[in-house]
Amino acid sequence: MKPFRSFLLILLLATPHLAHTAPQFGYAAKRHVSELRHDGYDFIIAGGGTSGLTVADRLSEAFPNKSILVVEYGDIEYAPGVWDPPKTAWGDTSGMSSRWALNSLPSPSLNNQGAAVIVGQSVGGSSATNGMFFDRGSRFDYDAWSDLQTDDGRRDAVGWDWSGIYTYFKKSVTFTPPPISVANQLNYTWDKSVFGNTTPIHASFPPFQWGDHYAVRQAWLEMGIRLAKECATGDKEGVCWIPISQHPISARRSYSGVGHYSDVVGSRSNYHLLVKHQVTQVIYAHGDVEAGPPLLEIKSLVDGQASNLTAAAEVILAAGVFGTPAILQRSGIGPAAFLRRANIEVVHDLPGVGANLQDHSGPQVAWKYTSPPPFSPMPTDMLDPVYATRAAADFDATPATGPYTLAMSNTAIWVPLSNITAHYSDLMQQIRNLANVSEPESLHLPPEYESDATLAAGYRAQLLALANMLSNPRAPSLESAFTTGTAVSAVLLHPLSRGTVRLNLSRPLDPPILNYRSASNHLDVVLHLHHLKYLRRTVQAPTLQGLGAVEIQPGIRRQTDEDLVAYIRNTTVQSYMHPCCTSAMLPLAKGGVVGVDLRVHGVAGLRVVDAGIFPMLPSAHLSATVYAVAEKAADIIITHWSRG
Ligand SMILES: Cc1cc2nc3c(=O)[nH]c(=O)nc-3n(C[C@H](O)[C@H](O)[C@H](O)COP(=O)(O)OP(=O)(O)OC[C@H]3O[C@@H](n4cnc5c(N)ncnc54)[C@H](O)[C@@H]3O)c2cc1C
Ligand SMILES: *[C@@H]1O[C@H](CO)[C@@H](O)[C@H](O)[C@H]1NC(C)=O
Ligand SMILES: *[C@@H]1O[C@H](CO)[C@@H](O)[C@H](O)[C@H]1NC(C)=O
Ligand SMILES: *[C@@H]1O[C@H](CO)[C@@H](O)[C@H](O)[C@H]1NC(C)=O
Ligand SMILES: *[C@@H]1O[C@H](CO)[C@@H](O)[C@H](O)[C@H]1NC(C)=O
Ligand SMILES: *[C@@H]1O[C@H](CO)[C@@H](O)[C@H](O)[C@H]1NC(C)=O
Ligand SMILES: *[C@@H]1O[C@H](CO)[C@@H](O)[C@H](O)[C@H]1NC(C)=O
Ligand SMILES: *[C@@H]1O[C@H](CO)[C@@H](O)[C@H](O)[C@H]1NC(C)=O
Repeated sequence: MKPFRSFLLILLLATPHLAHTAPQFGYAAKRHVSELRHDGYDFIIAGGGTSGLTVADRLSEAFPNKSILVVEYGDIEYAPGVWDPPKTAWGDTSGMSSRWALNSLPSPSLNNQGAAVIVGQSVGGSSATNGMFFDRGSRFDYDAWSDLQTDDGRRDAVGWDWSGIYTYFKKSVTFTPPPISVANQLNYTWDKSVFGNTTPIHASFPPFQWGDHYAVRQAWLEMGIRLAKECATGDKEGVCWIPISQHPISARRSYSGVGHYSDVVGSRSNYHLLVKHQVTQVIYAHGDVEAGPPLLEIKSLVDGQASNLTAAAEVILAAGVFGTPAILQRSGIGPAAFLRRANIEVVHDLPGVGANLQDHSGPQVAWKYTSPPPFSPMPTDMLDPVYATRAAADFDATPATGPYTLAMSNTAIWVPLSNITAHYSDLMQQIRNLANVSEPESLHLPPEYESDATLAAGYRAQLLALANMLSNPRAPSLESAFTTGTAVSAVLLHPLSRGTVRLNLSRPLDPPILNYRSASNHLDVVLHLHHLKYLRRTVQAPTLQGLGAVEIQPGIRRQTDEDLVAYIRNTTVQSYMHPCCTSAMLPLAKGGVVGVDLRVHGVAGLRVVDAGIFPMLPSAHLSATVYAVAEKAADIIITHWSRG
């Protein structure tokens, strides 16, 4: 019954005329502190995004007699899919739910350009506004997470390795295979056994592809990249079909605001959501960090009123990769030197807060067709009123069909470094040597790392883990996805450079200052170079050559490494919207912020459950991993409180 109920709800939420008028829908949220329970809550979660609502759903389900409150900055909003009517232009992002559009400080290694980063700002968080590409990482990503938790490379006590997190990947999503007719027509393949079928976060294949899709897939196969049947098994290499996070029948976006809130809250009087309030800080009475949980200070975004909320059991931070370290720093929990400079009383010195920032980045390869290729249909068909009208009707049919059912993309390649360059073992030796340099300055880390031995030690451990991973012929280093059009990106899955997130001291309640420092480690430029040289072979493959494709970016006249490096420095996209790792799950001695149970080191009653806890980026877009991490976090918390 559950999938059906959520289908009706999604249809209700997605009624187009509502989308453009009312910000509120048929389900309730608290809007004022006076509506909250007067005797406090058991659990309070800061941030009603992807991770926060997942944990709130699970806790309220497991503990009918405990109360759960989520405090969210944004509001309940219609969350359209990436390509939902009335759009006629492919790539148009207008009409998406609320977002922060941030710019990082300039990155000196990339011609002083800054990263442009978008972050979700509504109930559902980034899952309400993301690209809906729904893939898991490689098993080696999570095995490396686990290895980093111990000094002897043994599995950690909680099991953050692939075998320990796989159960939660499965639990976190319901995958519905396409009808056989669609599968045959579009050549989809999958393995249903690696997915679950109980949680109303949906993954499915769209019953539509643009006409140029198979040309690029064919080019990749011609490059010798293996055809993979299913890439969510932990083995992530080859040309993959990736499900997208949408309902299989309605084709509407499936995200935490529906699957972990509106779908479940009706029957849960213990699950409250307060919207339009900013969590400003956590407060330990008399600065006693061992007497937890802390108070949660919040501020209304409507009338500016501040209030303190009390949690009897725990405060759980889920405000995202930028929101969570900002809350911690405002609370006086962070690097002491920075806090003193900021005139914030040091409640607890924790150097890793806001460090270890990573994101997926990379330059593009673009081409043009010398004569119009015979692709059909194509996005330009939407300019034909007859085609566009039918497309809108098809989207509203049951089941939905046609172009609007396709989000951004659902095919991509993942390629190990050993398939990309014969020099990969030299490169790995360089990374290992770097991990072993005696002078911390040579690590190219942010200046504040140099005064902290734990951060540098953690980074050296990450370098060794990355060298092992990249020398593994089954672990991918490059991703490239294809949507439609004439460009593909060479995405660096495992960057070596690290950035920071720090409060803006003149406006500490504003979004914090991001310092991406992309490519500050010169080996990232070397990796980009190898990836770019490999990916441009796409245009040379027989299928694209047969269609008259000619490379225009980096451009055939750029052939020397020097020219290509100049192109990389000039054009690399610094954020594919996958920031992570700023509240890293690592031991204290490695500059970590949370332990394997996700408790913040050294303070009581406080955990972090969002994408900030990843120690390193996975070989995937992040949302599926965020859901799995949140499911595992919920289990850890439930187990803890079930013991009494
Ligand atoms: C534009 C875009 C495209 C993306 N594309 C994809 C994709 O195609 N596939 C994919 O898998 N991943 C994609 N991602 C990444 C993925 O969606 C995110 O990594 C993931 O959703 C993050 O989950 P989270 O729980 O860590 O944070 P979020 O889901 O961002 O949740 C954080 C929540 O906290 C709230 N908040 C912040 N500060 C405060 C505060 N002080 N007080 C109260 N509330 C606060 C925010 O409003 C937000 O709701 C994309 C992300 C973006 C932004
Ligand atoms: C919840 O409380 C009710 C009444 O106080 C009690 O009967 C019930 O057993 C409790 N349930 C759980 C799961 O603790
Ligand atoms: C579909 O896949 C088969 C092999 O599995 C291949 O022979 C065929 O060319 C593919 N069709 C398209 C349109 O790519
Ligand atoms: C990488 O190369 C090996 C050996 O040639 C091959 O078996 C494998 O399929 C390739 N992997 C990818 C993703 O292309
Ligand atoms: C919240 O608690 C702190 C510490 O007890 C106190 O200083 C502050 O005034 C309180 N804020 C509100 C709005 O009550
Ligand atoms: C690291 O340096 C030490 C001493 O300089 C040396 O003994 C060791 O072999 C080096 N390790 C690696 C992996 O290079
Ligand atoms: C900090 O906030 C001020 C005031 O809003 C703003 O002018 C400034 O650009 C911000 N600093 C950074 C680095 O973003
Ligand atoms: C860098 O970009 C600028 C502006 O886009 C352009 O004018 C310049 O030619 C580029 N240089 C290189 C080396 O690509």
